[in-house]
Amino acid sequence: MRFEGTDSYVATEDLTVAVNAAINLQRPLLVKGEPGTGKTVLAHEIAAALDLPLLTWHIKSTTKAQHGLYEYDAVARLRDGQLGDEKVKDIANYIKPGKLWHAFTNTPKKCVLLIDEIDKADIEFPNDLLLELDRMEFFVYETGQTIKATNRPVVLITSNNEKELPDAFLRRCFFHYIRFPDRETMERIVAVHFPDVKKNLVREALNAFFELRDVPGLKKRPSTSELLDWIKLLMSDDISAEALRAKDLKTVLPPLHGALVKNEQDVHLLERLAFLSRRENR
Ligand SMILES: Nc1ncnc2c1ncn2[C@@H]1O[C@H](COP(=O)(O)OP(=O)(O)OP(=O)(O)O)[C@@H](O)[C@H]1O
Ligand SMILES: [Mg+2]
Repeated sequence: MRFEGTDSYVATEDLTVAVNAAINLQRPLLVKGEPGTGKTVLAHEIAAALDLPLLTWHIKSTTKAQHGLYEYDAVARLRDGQLGDEKVKDIANYIKPGKLWHAFTNTPKKCVLLIDEIDKADIEFPNDLLLELDRMEFFVYETGQTIKATNRPVVLITSNNEKELPDAFLRRCFFHYIRFPDRETMERIVAVHFPDVKKNLVREALNAFFELRDVPGLKKRPSTSELLDWIKLLMSDDISAEALRAKDLKTVLPPLHGALVKNEQDVHLLERLAFLSRRENR
């Protein structure tokens, strides 16, 4: 079982190596990288490429490790008990399996499990999953069952680095940092999304994009997903490559910059730079 990238996703050599290493080691692959660099989509692509079903567990600040294993609905059981329902005799009726349970018991094929944005949860969350991810089994106290993965899922964990992950957790993962795509990779990514886009529009758009990313002091630099949105808008508004020429962009903000720059401080900064360079050119 090997991952080689797909027609809709540009996987660099080092990313492909990391994915295959994690598959071979049967350990979770921890993927970090700037927002919008294709971490979440990677899980979809791995599942598609290996022809496996994908289960997604999206982590929020309130998510607890136990939610991924199972939840026991004691309130429903109490209510049913008061109503004299026969169901109460079997406690298993009130156990709701979580994503890990589903992933461990997926048949006939194994699955790809995406644990998305693990850094959103509280600091204990990764520690609470150490054993479960390592041994891929857990115990259900209410029923006395052990849920064990017969077919270890391919686990992908993403993080935006909002919190440090504990060492013990890191030890159990294979790690990959998605570096920000260089120009050539970015051209390929754009081509995958917009096969019909004009070459010179992409060239000028990428010039403007990388120049914008290089502006010192930006709070939030635009990333792949912003670039893709921007190019889509440029295409639908039929903006010409000439309108994006770099020398003009020094003195005015790029058209439809709302797709690239997402906060007022950055817009301010760019307006000031444009103003200064207009004055210099006078
Ligand atoms: N290598 C790539 N090949 C093709 N498309 C890509 C690639 N990298 C990013 N994209 C596109 O960029 C967009 C954002 O990707 P995605 O949502 O996976 O980012 P992310 O890293 O999960 O971001 P966040 O950290 O904000 O969740 C998607 O539309 C995806 O198709
Ligand atoms: Mg994501």
